[in-house]
Amino acid sequence: MRNVILDCDPGHDDAISIIIAASSVSDLNILGITTVAGNVEVEKNTINTLKICELLELDIPVVQGARRPLVKASEIAPEIHGETGMDGPELPEPQIEVTEGHAVDFIIEQVMNSSEQVTLVPTGPLTNIAMALIKEPRIIENIDEIVLMGGGTFGNWTPAAEFNIFVDAEAAKVVYDSSVPVTMFGLDVTHQVIATEDIIERVGKIDNKIAVFVKELLIFFGETYKNHFGFNGGPIHDACTTMYLLKPELFKTEYLNVTVETKGEYSYGMTVIDTLSVTGREPNTNVAFGVDTEAFWTLFEEILKSFDGG
Ligand code: BDR
Ligand code: CA
Repeated sequence: MRNVILDCDPGHDDAISIIIAASSVSDLNILGITTVAGNVEVEKNTINTLKICELLELDIPVVQGARRPLVKASEIAPEIHGETGMDGPELPEPQIEVTEGHAVDFIIEQVMNSSEQVTLVPTGPLTNIAMALIKEPRIIENIDEIVLMGGGTFGNWTPAAEFNIFVDAEAAKVVYDSSVPVTMFGLDVTHQVIATEDIIERVGKIDNKIAVFVKELLIFFGETYKNHFGFNGGPIHDACTTMYLLKPELFKTEYLNVTVETKGEYSYGMTVIDTLSVTGREPNTNVAFGVDTEAFWTLFEEILKSFDGG
């Protein structure tokens, strides 16, 4: 069983990523979920996480993290995820409570005290992960991989930058430059898993409360992506991370050097991917560029069906 910490800002696609990790198809051991300021304020992301855990009957620590990025002011995306950060489905106020403490300390404690290596799975801005690496660099030895959603060869927040990286580019640079192996799901690959009408229809045929929740998420997220970007559905970006952990062979990756631009006037927050190895810098990142789309959605259906009778 692989030990994972999901660090996120739910978020429609973050929610789906958590569901994948928590399904019985998954053999991941979720040590806890940490939250970060991203799609909306961290407090809202935490409430959404608690709601998701309650729906999943998932009894694990949920620990709140950074309220703002390392250097600059917060930036949020209610136009994509709604005012609550997870608009669309109506879930009751959670009964379960947030675990005391700070996400950064939780990550450090879990990694330092684990007898097996830990995989970090960030699907929001990288503030908590960077802070943990700075506060206790010894965690590097016990992290086998950081599997993240962020970046790409183009942007969705600026022409050059993807949202998660743009919000805290300084943190992202700390992570990419940390020497921990990174596997990166950027927009090049996440835009290949768009939940179009027919995918929503397939999800709609699955009759359990988790599939109903996912369908409602996809409908809301699909609408905002249509209105904002003219897409024919919402790309379930963050879900790529946990799908990869369940079945890496779904994805095509290239091992390349990646760092993050933190100074450019037009390119701030860009992931600089050395595709042709022109810099001579050592590769540090498995960059996902391709996915077997049909196999992805088939596994996705299987995952949702696994909640039948639950
Ligand atoms: C990323 O930004 C957020 O809107 C999503 O949850 C995802 O993590 C996509 O750019
Ligand atoms: Ca996210």
